[in-house]
Amino acid sequence: KEIVVSGIRSTGILHLGNYFGAIRNYIRMQEEFNCYFFVADWHSLTTHPDPKDLRGNVYRVLAENIASGLDPEKVTLYVQSDIPEIAELYLLLNMMAYKGELEKVPTFKDKVRQNPDNVNAGLLTYPVLMTADILVQRAVKVPVGKDQEQHLEMSRNFAQRFNNRYGFLFPEPFPFNYGDDLVRIMSLDGNGKMSKSENENSTLYLNDTDDAIRNKIKKAKTDSGPQEENSEKPDYINNLFTLMKLVSTPDTVQFFEEAFNKCNIRYGDMKKQLGEDMVAFIAPIREKAAAIQQDHAYLHRIMREGADKARATASQTLSEARKLMGINFY
Ligand code: TYM
Repeated sequence: KEIVVSGIRSTGILHLGNYFGAIRNYIRMQEEFNCYFFVADWHSLTTHPDPKDLRGNVYRVLAENIASGLDPEKVTLYVQSDIPEIAELYLLLNMMAYKGELEKVPTFKDKVRQNPDNVNAGLLTYPVLMTADILVQRAVKVPVGKDQEQHLEMSRNFAQRFNNRYGFLFPEPFPFNYGDDLVRIMSLDGNGKMSKSENENSTLYLNDTDDAIRNKIKKAKTDSGPQEENSEKPDYINNLFTLMKLVSTPDTVQFFEEAFNKCNIRYGDMKKQLGEDMVAFIAPIREKAAAIQQDHAYLHRIMREGADKARATASQTLSEARKLMGINFY
């Protein structure tokens, strides 16, 4: 079975971007592949979160993944910081990662712009740590949203560089999405991608109440409708259709598609329908996650068992990497 790795940072409540970019793929992939899914708590340290909040968020991300349908019996589910081999591989890969290429990464440049006072080395080497997460399991498929595409390209470069210099160890990892293109869910206000930290009123969280879901969708950006038949959809309208395709029936989608193409779409009606279908989608996840999140004993058992499995394979990779690099003495 092909090996799959993917992670989610423990920076807050998961939202629909996380669900449709990543988790939805995880749930299907667990039936087909050898999957390693983890909470990227090290990656969330770049912004120095309060330790108590960070702990809570790790439990939350695990609970929300399980509530969404991830089965800890089928996948290896763990917390990144429980796998010291990842940190060791990160150190080794850092020798092959150049300052210039790291500074050019668009996500790094964004962070520098947003917070020029906190440009730490962890932020600069973020893609190297990500590469270590993936290569330590020698994964070939990485289910992620569109925003991670460039990081994956760097991971392939680092893998090649290691293989060329020391001998083959790492297959190249590629981003993966069922369907075709990688997913990018936009914020409901039409400004950029949906994210954990952007405007809360334009992000649909997996723990939103039914009323919050309805209200946020009601306020989602629309306009006065298409002026010509069969015209192209603006981004923010396209986003509503994307969400509708994910949670509504094909007949519903087709109904509004046709209305759009004939210029008689009523966005109020569309948003009402989408709101109801979204409530039906999110409510069961919210309720399950709330229950699981309370059960720390259960979550602890899952993360310990996951860490044991992930470490077993990771340490094999490290012993081969050390051998190839000439640093195996003990
Ligand atoms: P993070 O925590 O920001 O997001 C987790 C996953 O959700 C996807 N995602 C989206 N997809 C579509 N539309 C959106 N608006 C949207 N917002 C988030 C992300 O693409 C991601 O798949 N660096 C990663 C975490 C990570 C990782 C890894 C991923 C660390 N190591 C190794 C894969 C492999 C991140 O910050 O994801």
